[in-house]
Amino acid sequence: MGYGEAVDGGPLTRAHAVELDRADPLAGYRERFELGDGDRLYVDGNSLGRLSHDARAALTGIVDEWGARLVTGWHDWVDLAGRTGDALGAAALGAAPGQALACDSTTVNLYKLAGAVLAARDGAVVVPADDFPTDRYVLEGLAAAHGRGLRLLEGDPVAPPGVDAVAAAAEGAALVVLSHVNYRSGARADMAAITAAVHAAGALVLWDLCHSAGAVDLPLDAAGADLAVGCTYKYLNAGPGSPAFLYVAARHQELLRSPIQGWFSQADQFAMGPRYAPVAGIGRFLAGTPPVVGLAAVMAGAEMLAEAGIEAIGRKAAALTTLAVDLHDERLAGLGFSLGTPRDPADRGAHVSLRHPDAWRVCRALIEYANVIPDFRHPDSIRFGLPPLYTRFADVWDAVDRLAGLVEGGVHERMSAEAARVT
Ligand SMILES: Cc1ncc(COP(=O)(O)O)c(C=O)c1O
Repeated sequence: MGYGEAVDGGPLTRAHAVELDRADPLAGYRERFELGDGDRLYVDGNSLGRLSHDARAALTGIVDEWGARLVTGWHDWVDLAGRTGDALGAAALGAAPGQALACDSTTVNLYKLAGAVLAARDGAVVVPADDFPTDRYVLEGLAAAHGRGLRLLEGDPVAPPGVDAVAAAAEGAALVVLSHVNYRSGARADMAAITAAVHAAGALVLWDLCHSAGAVDLPLDAAGADLAVGCTYKYLNAGPGSPAFLYVAARHQELLRSPIQGWFSQADQFAMGPRYAPVAGIGRFLAGTPPVVGLAAVMAGAEMLAEAGIEAIGRKAAALTTLAVDLHDERLAGLGFSLGTPRDPADRGAHVSLRHPDAWRVCRALIEYANVIPDFRHPDSIRFGLPPLYTRFADVWDAVDRLAGLVEGGVHERMSAEAARVT
C-alpha cells in the first residue's frame, strides 16, 4: 500500500490525515507505547523516543534476573553487546552479523573508531562545519592529539552534503565523518555515492547514524560503508542514556585497534595476562563491562523494528514528513516560517525543521500553551520529529494547526527570550 495519494486540489483537511491513519499498515504499533496525556502532541521522538511496553517489560525482566541470578547471570550477559549489535545490524542497519556492537555512548564510540583510523592512516580529518557538536569536538581533540589537520566542510544548511564537495575535501585525508541525517535540517546524505567518492579520494568514511537508525532504511553493507556510530534513545526507544552502537565493516577489523585498551577487548580476557592483545573481530572495539540493564531495552527496540520492518518504517517517515512539508507551505509559510528541510523525501530522515525568526519563543509557547512538545535548535529551528511507529498523520495535522493558531494569535510574544539549560 502507498501512503498519501495526492489530495485533489483543495486544502489539506484533518479528514485527509485521519484517512491516511486509517490506511496505515503500521498504525497498530502506537498502542504498544505508553501514551500518557492523550491531548499532548509529542513530536520530539527524534530527541528521546517514547517508552514502549516491550521496553518496560524487558527492563523489569532484566532487573528480576539480576535479583535472582546475581553474578551467575554473567554467563549470559557477557556477550550481550555483540548479540544486541547483531540484532540492530539486521533490524536497522543493513549489516551482516559480526560487525556491530551495542556499547558505550555515541561520543565514546566515535572517539574509539576515529582514533583507531588516525592511528592506522595518515592524513587530515574532514567534518561538516554544521555537524553535531560532539562529533566536531571529539574530532578537534583527536586531530590535535595526532597532529592532523581538521577540515571543516561548508555547505548549504538545508541540503544533503554534495558528493563532489565531500570528495574534494577527502583528497589526502585519512577520515571523513558525516551525519547520515543532519540533526538540525534532517537532510539525508547519499551513503553509497559519498562512500564511493571518498574511497576514490583515498579516505574512509565514518557515519553518524543517530538520526537515521530506526527512522529510515540503512544500507551499511550494501553501500560499502566503513564505519558507523549511533544512539538508541531516539528511534529505537531504548530510554534516556541507553547504550549506543558502533559498526566496523569486517574487512577493516584486523587493521584497526581501539585507542581504549579495555579488558573486554582483550584476546584472553579472563587469563588476566600482563600485556594487551586485542581479540580478533568486532569484539576488539569493546572497552569495559557492558551496560546490561540498558542493553535489554535496546534489544526490545531492535525486536520491534524487526517485526515492523525498516522499509515500511522508512516509507511512513517519508509520508509523515511530506504531510508536514505540505502543511508548512499551506499554513505556516505566510506566518514568517521557512522550511529548513529538503523537499524530496529521499533527501531527508524522519524529522522536519521549521525555521522562524522567533523560533525559541514559539517553541516555548508550544510547550506551555498548546501542549505540543517539539524542540529548538540554535539559531532558528523548531524540530518536529515524527517517529513512524507511534506518530499519527492526525498528530502532524494537529501539531501544525496548533502552531499556526499560536503564532497567528501572537501567543509566543508572552514568552521570555531567556535561554534554558536544555533546549
Ligand atoms: C547526530 C548526533 N550525534 C551524537 C549525539 C550525542 O551522542 P551522545 O549520546 O554521546 O550524547 C547526538 C545527540 O542527540 C546526535 O544527534
